[in-house]
Amino acid sequence: MPDTLHLGLDHFDVQIRSALAQALGLEKDSLKLERPRDEKMGEFAFPCFRFAKEKKTNPAELAKKLAGELSVEFVAPSAAGPFLNFRVEPAALAKRVASDVSKPNYGCGNLEGKVVVEYSSPNIAKPMHVGHLRTTVIGAALSRLANRAGHEVVRINHLGDWGSQFGKLVAAWNRWGSEEKLSVEPIDHLLELYVRYHKEEENDESLPAAAKVAFQELESGENNKTRVIWKRFTEYSLREFNHIFDRLGSTFDFVRGESWYEDQLDPLIDWLESTGVLEESDGATIVDLKDHGIKTPCLVKTAHGTTLYATRDLAAAKSRWEEFQFERALYVVGAEQNLHFQQFTTVLKKAGCEWASRIEHISFGLIRLQEGKLSTREGRILSLTEVLDRAVELAAEIIEEKNPELDHKEAVSEQVGVGAIIFHDLKHQRNKDVVFNWGEVLSFEGDTGPYLQYSHARCCAILRKADRPAPSIDSIDLGLLSDSPELFVALGRYPQALREAWEKREPMILAQHLLKIASAGNAFYHEKRVLGESEELESARLCAIDLLRKTLGDGLGILGVPTPEEM
Ligand code: ARG
Repeated sequence: MPDTLHLGLDHFDVQIRSALAQALGLEKDSLKLERPRDEKMGEFAFPCFRFAKEKKTNPAELAKKLAGELSVEFVAPSAAGPFLNFRVEPAALAKRVASDVSKPNYGCGNLEGKVVVEYSSPNIAKPMHVGHLRTTVIGAALSRLANRAGHEVVRINHLGDWGSQFGKLVAAWNRWGSEEKLSVEPIDHLLELYVRYHKEEENDESLPAAAKVAFQELESGENNKTRVIWKRFTEYSLREFNHIFDRLGSTFDFVRGESWYEDQLDPLIDWLESTGVLEESDGATIVDLKDHGIKTPCLVKTAHGTTLYATRDLAAAKSRWEEFQFERALYVVGAEQNLHFQQFTTVLKKAGCEWASRIEHISFGLIRLQEGKLSTREGRILSLTEVLDRAVELAAEIIEEKNPELDHKEAVSEQVGVGAIIFHDLKHQRNKDVVFNWGEVLSFEGDTGPYLQYSHARCCAILRKADRPAPSIDSIDLGLLSDSPELFVALGRYPQALREAWEKREPMILAQHLLKIASAGNAFYHEKRVLGESEELESARLCAIDLLRKTLGDGLGILGVPTPEEM
């Protein structure tokens, strides 16, 4: 456990482990508590199997003995077969959790060191498609989780802006490009040029020749006509990408395309040469990785002397290490690039870079759209903008139906539509494929973003209706909240969800925990009257609603889901 992300239920976890450690004569940090299989048994469970063996007794005996001996403030131990369960006294639970949640450092850890997170990294001159959605939202969420754990985070967008395909694009532009089209629909036009190039290349030998010349001009490093137009392609592309990043709430510290490493490629090859890992194979330069269990060698230079995607990744990794001395470097890239990541990280290890073991490929599964008219239009890949627009349109229809009087309907539809898409992506285990079903993504009930946003907005509505500032935690009788242990257990486990989500690089853990919090919150305000109770009780419950609002808002913020106050 790195630290306790400022406590909540972890406070009792630490207390219980200390008592257990003392009774067993062990280190507290070597013990780990679980959750009882049945929530009614308490908040923590300690399986006695391993320790019974060491103490030469049987687990049930040991559980019984410990239950009789242990003394932990506000916690009642009980033996259930080989398990020792612990229940926290509801009033102490409410007090502890409420006071921790209300502190500004709730959910903040103290881990140190820099974490580089590379994510999104779309290719210029092409639309961002649904595949880029996952890297963009997972990467942004992991960056925020790392930051919460205490790390300093460096976010990098590794744009795909280099390679021989840009020679082809420039050749096509020189033949058929239209300034007018470029200024109106730049990406569509560039895509059209690229497609046309591939169609006509077969019957026109002059085209590949022109593409080759253009790429040489690009690689020459001179500020020639080719480079000028390529730069414009990048600018136009970024303008569109930035619009999507704004909608998704993604930010970057550095937008550094592959081209940024261009002048580091020759020195990289020289350095690889000096470490003795390079070999020649049919005129090309490779690193053989068979001795590391990888059959396919890593190609670092073609027989024509051009560098490759892997060469640029090698240079980028080395440059990032030299610049940031990172604790970890995460690359949020789809599982289809698994081999590529294995190859270039293994090259680095083979070349003697101890730090290469700090690189993590954060891979993820595909998004599959349910067949039907929304899957693709005219056989094209569905662009991310189309998906977001469609979600916003659907959200607007639902809002129109449910709450036609709402102010700022357009802005809220955007928040709900985009939030629905982001949450749907993050609620899945990242390595699994995600199947997209519009009805499910946007439903206001069930495991969805809109459901969570709605729960948050409900809290805001109650607080608005109270028509007085949310009472401060010091001014209320926290004991009055001891009738709602489920809510405080859920709120109190928020730090644990944050910690595990970061440790496992799995935003899903946070997403699922927020659903639990929302469901405990819903039960709370359905079963218990908040407004119109005695002044004391109303204050205590309003305070609970405020803590619920705060935690849901915080968690959704980490996932990148917007939180409208009304919807
Ligand atoms: N531009 C690539 C694509 O869209 C992703 C780049 C991934 N990052 C990397 N360092 N190779 O498929």
